[in-house]
Amino acid sequence: MPGVVLVGAQWGDEGKGKATDLLGSRVDYVVKFNGGNNAGHTVVIGDEKYALHLLPSGILSPGVTPVIANGVVVDIEVLFQELDDLISRGVDVSRLLVSGSAHVIAGYHRTIDKVSERFLGKRRIGTTGRGIGPAYADKINRVGIRIWDLFDEKILAEKIEGSLDQKNHLLVKVYNRRAITVDETVAELLQYADRLKPMVADTALELNKALDAGKNVLFEGGQATMLDVDHGTYPFVTSSNATAGGALTGSGVGPTRISSVIGVIKAYTTRVGEGPFPTELFDANGEYLLKQGGEYGVTTGRARRCGWYDSVIARYATRVNGITDMVLTKLDILTGFEKVPVCVAYDVDGVRYDEMPLDQTAFHHAKPIYEELDGWWEDISGARTFEDLPTNAQRYVLALEEMSGTRISAIGVGPSRDAIIPRHDLIH
Ligand code: GDP
Ligand code: IMO
Ligand code: MG
Repeated sequence: MPGVVLVGAQWGDEGKGKATDLLGSRVDYVVKFNGGNNAGHTVVIGDEKYALHLLPSGILSPGVTPVIANGVVVDIEVLFQELDDLISRGVDVSRLLVSGSAHVIAGYHRTIDKVSERFLGKRRIGTTGRGIGPAYADKINRVGIRIWDLFDEKILAEKIEGSLDQKNHLLVKVYNRRAITVDETVAELLQYADRLKPMVADTALELNKALDAGKNVLFEGGQATMLDVDHGTYPFVTSSNATAGGALTGSGVGPTRISSVIGVIKAYTTRVGEGPFPTELFDANGEYLLKQGGEYGVTTGRARRCGWYDSVIARYATRVNGITDMVLTKLDILTGFEKVPVCVAYDVDGVRYDEMPLDQTAFHHAKPIYEELDGWWEDISGARTFEDLPTNAQRYVLALEEMSGTRISAIGVGPSRDAIIPRHDLIH
């Protein structure tokens, strides 16, 4: 049967794209269930490097049916730009399915994302500016536009009118911007409708039938646990459920379909945008992780904030997602430290917290309590078995496994497809 969910365990950019690609030859469907083109997943195949934003990473695996499910917000222009880019590089994209129930990102969502960030000033979230938050806000406010609406022009115009009504008051009177017309938005969205139509489907029906037929379905999360709107560091989060539960509501399959949940986690921690980050480094070590790890955003090019591994977050992610297996990535980047500190708990105003404090003030005050593990100097990028790793790197992995409360089933030692040490089967 299995339905397998893959999620980020930290603040994103853990290497979900690579992990998805690893499983590509063993799955029939790869489903994107949340977020939109705020994501940036890098997949390296031989000499080719792909950066995927809106499309599920499984689109690069021959034979896989990629699915953009109902939980996604779709910028249709970006969708076709990405598709055209892949087509020009010889990738077969013909199997892509897009849920008609997915919501659409329109120009006014991008505008509101940008102006509202500017208005927030020092309280800004540091969003990707792709219109993600405003599109999800419209969905929850029940004034969103769904892909189905593109195929009924009259309904589309009515819905856009309803959606723009309040927004234009806001844009003109508060943000001092020009009003957006219904006609320009209808034209913006309709230009893609004919090309989109053959891809549009009831993807929940398709996925449930596939699972009934014993196919393997991988649900690939965008963003990550700590960016989840319910379980992340609210309000410094994205606007969707990036945790495992989002795979269900975001695709229309039930919990009984899921046999394993893979958490992807870096051997250290990074974060893009604003918000608390207890193990963040402001010294030469942080600079080293940034440079050595190539920690620059795939979507916005921003330098990622870097810090040590945080096992409080790993335990939290294990719990809220029900993670059965971790894929630990970028262990190779930690080569060359005398000691590698790992956060085991927090000190919050003199009180020790072994578990994640959910109160925003407490988390802002959290100071990491570190345990120092011995480092290693050997180049590990050629390691392909656990025994190939130097003893201290093995000890580091085993310590993380113990602290994080879940087994580490694969270890990444480089960006390429084969730079991986398998330990346990990820599909079970
Ligand atoms: P995603 O958003 O979770 O898919 O991750 P990103 O693609 O944004 O960022 C992860 C980066 O790390 C990419 O540049 C990957 O090519 C790279 N990467 C993934 N796994 C490894 C690994 O084990 N070692 C190294 N050195 N790089 C890795
Ligand atoms: P992948 O899938 C890292 C961050 C943004 C910002 C916050 C809200 O590549 O791991 P949004 O535009 O979503 O409203 O921004 O979330 N963010 C990500 N950070 N990786 C991502 O995706 C992210 N997607 C959004 O930087 O702090
Ligand atoms: Mg990314």
